[in-house]
Amino acid sequence: MSVASTLLAVEGLTKSYGGIHAVRGVSFSLRSGEILALIGPNGAGKSTCFDMLNGQNRPDSGHVRLLGEETTGKKPREIWRLGVGRTFQITATFATMTVRENVQVALVSHGRQLFNLWSSAPNYDRSEAGRLLELVGMGGYADRPCGELAYGDLKRLELAVALANQPKLLLMDEPTAGMAPRERVELMRLTAQIAREKSIGVLFTEHDMDVVFEHADRIIVLNRGTLIAEGSPAEVRSNPQVQAVYLGEGLLYEAGHREGASA
Ligand SMILES: Nc1ncnc2c1ncn2[C@@H]1O[C@H](COP(=O)(O)OP(=O)(O)OP(=O)(O)O)[C@@H](O)[C@H]1O
Ligand SMILES: [Mg+2]
Repeated sequence: MSVASTLLAVEGLTKSYGGIHAVRGVSFSLRSGEILALIGPNGAGKSTCFDMLNGQNRPDSGHVRLLGEETTGKKPREIWRLGVGRTFQITATFATMTVRENVQVALVSHGRQLFNLWSSAPNYDRSEAGRLLELVGMGGYADRPCGELAYGDLKRLELAVALANQPKLLLMDEPTAGMAPRERVELMRLTAQIAREKSIGVLFTEHDMDVVFEHADRIIVLNRGTLIAEGSPAEVRSNPQVQAVYLGEGLLYEAGHREGASA
């Protein structure tokens, strides 16, 4: 992979808690517009990886680079400004505001760094908010208070809020947790479609293997802090080591069923 096409480069990422090696020498890369799934059993180190990528947690060693720029050790806010978005953080935070106002707040927050002297920002934000809401299929909900939204609609709003920052990379740690299976597939389909259109790289983790296999371009597999496999959905699904890990954990995922494994 050429340096030019690499959006995110992770090298030797390591984090221990006392005697627990939460993440050990993890390296991978991600291109713009690519949908990469990070999977692994409970406690594999997925969230620890995410938190080191978005600045919430400092690695013991290793490097994270975004478009060639070192982001290791930067604060979450600085990393956000460089174009790394996290979805699904606003649940219930702005419940009394309307759907449109939530997106406008995000746009103002993003705009402040770009056009801090631009006095017409609120009008721009209003129409831009409407455009983002249309994009995620929430145009008809713009004037509703957020507190009234169904869970799945809130998730789509959260995607619009993340997009307001014009991210280059979206980090999504279990974005569909708590959603019904059909809604999960739909939310990831929407996310993947928008990401490909806008050339946004997406790193996501997800326990629902249907969602992973349907939407990921590539999958990396963590087990006990170490990457044990990387490849296309078909390659990962048929990888004996991956199957052993999931079956060993008693997690009879679709992957196992589809390969004909029996409990
Ligand atoms: N702050 C912490 N202090 C001590 N141990 C931690 C801390 N955070 C994570 N760990 C440990 O590190 C390991 C990896 O945890 P992590 O949350 O990254 O796993 P995960 O893959 O996200 O799991 P899940 O699928 O359950 O979300 C686990 O053994 C966990 O107990
Ligand atoms: Mg986790």
